[in-house]
Order: sequence, then C-alpha cells, then structure tokens
Amino acid sequence: MIVTIDGPAGSGKSTVAKLLAARLSVRFLDTGAMYRAIACSVLNSEVSETDEIAVAEIAESVQLEFQGETLCLNGIDVSEQIRTPQVTAISSIVAANPAVRNRLVQLQRQVGQQGSLVTEGRDQGSVVFPGAEHKFFLTASVDARARRRHRELIAGGSSLTLETVKTQLAQRDERDENRAHAPMKPAADAVTIDTSGMSIAQVVEHLVEQVAK
Ligand code: DC
Repeated sequence: MIVTIDGPAGSGKSTVAKLLAARLSVRFLDTGAMYRAIACSVLNSEVSETDEIAVAEIAESVQLEFQGETLCLNGIDVSEQIRTPQVTAISSIVAANPAVRNRLVQLQRQVGQQGSLVTEGRDQGSVVFPGAEHKFFLTASVDARARRRHRELIAGGSSLTLETVKTQLAQRDERDENRAHAPMKPAADAVTIDTSGMSIAQVVEHLVEQVAK
C-alpha cells in the first residue's frame, strides 16, 4: 500500500506523514530530504545552483541512501546539514532541474517497490506514484504555515523574523508551483485537507480514518 502526502512547506505534511507511517507500521519516505541532499552537494561544490548541466552531473554521480530514516550522501549522514538556511534557500532551484527530478523519482520508485510506504513531497501523488491507494494534499494559509515554520526555527536557535520566514516561504511556493517539470499540485484524485485550524493529532486521526475506509 502506498499513501502519498503532498503539499507546500509548513502544511504539516512531514510530521503528519511520519506519524501516519508509524500508526500504519509502514516505511516513511521524506522526498524533500532527497532534494535537499542534492542541494547540499551543490553547496559543497564549486558549482552554481543555476548551472543546470553541472547540477545534473552532481545529481547523477552522488550516492544517496536512507539507512533507516537517516539520509546518507556518499556514505555520510547529512540529516543536519540538509536543514540549514543555505540549503533551504537553493533547494527549490535545484528541485526545478529535470535531471535531478528524474534521478530522484527513480530512487523513490525503488523504495516504493520494497513494500508499503507513506511518502511525502510535492509530486508523490501526481507523478511518482500515480497508482497510489491513498493520496492526500495538505495545505494551509501562508500565514499559518509561516507561523509554524517560524516557531520551529526559533526553537532551533534561529533569529529570523516572522516576516522574513513568510517571504522566503512564499518565494519557495512560487518556484515549486510554477516550474515546468512536475510542479507542486494535488493529483486529480487526491483528497485536499486545509490544516490551518487543525492540530497535528487531528490531521493524523483524519488520515487514519480515510485510509481505514
Ligand atoms: O519539503 P522540503 O521543504 O524539505 O522540500 C525541499 C525542496 O524540495 C522544496 O523546494 C520542494 C522540493 N521538493 C520537490 O520539488 N519535490 C518533492 N517531491 C519534494 C520536495
């Protein structure tokens, strides 16, 4: 069984997907982490994130694998590095590169072949797993999403203002929604849920009920 959870940053999809996977006792796949890992590799190189050919070469040459939920890039745990503001800033540029997407879509489908999965991203229901049994698209107002992301960043020691977080989030949404290749959008058969006024626990319960139907 494949369950896809797509949606913009701050919609709660990562936390919800992880909890849903635990409730269903299946694997959890964070595909945003994979795009972030490529962005990380680009940052660690001399290559500019806008150099499509050089970025494609990086994406094709790196070794990317999950050891449990730990993402390893060329054998090194990059779970922390991929969450830095620098990586976040270029991840949507790298994710618009068709060669990067082709490579990562292949890897994601390989994970899907290994058994049941809750997978989250932007294109999991629309492109990567069109035949998934359950598809959800989580959304929330940009204000609600910025407030959530800001709270997380402050808890992690960041001093970014709410306004800056909101501007960055809106820029990233814009790039993710308008890229030519696999833009962020709900699959035609996805159930869309606005999580603005919902707690994480409420969203998880709702999804558990939908999957059980
Ligand atoms: O969900 P996230 O913030 O970790 O995602 C990082 C970037 O990768 C974001 O700009 C969207 C992009 N992404 C994507 O294009 N497709 C996916 N399946 C997952 C993430």
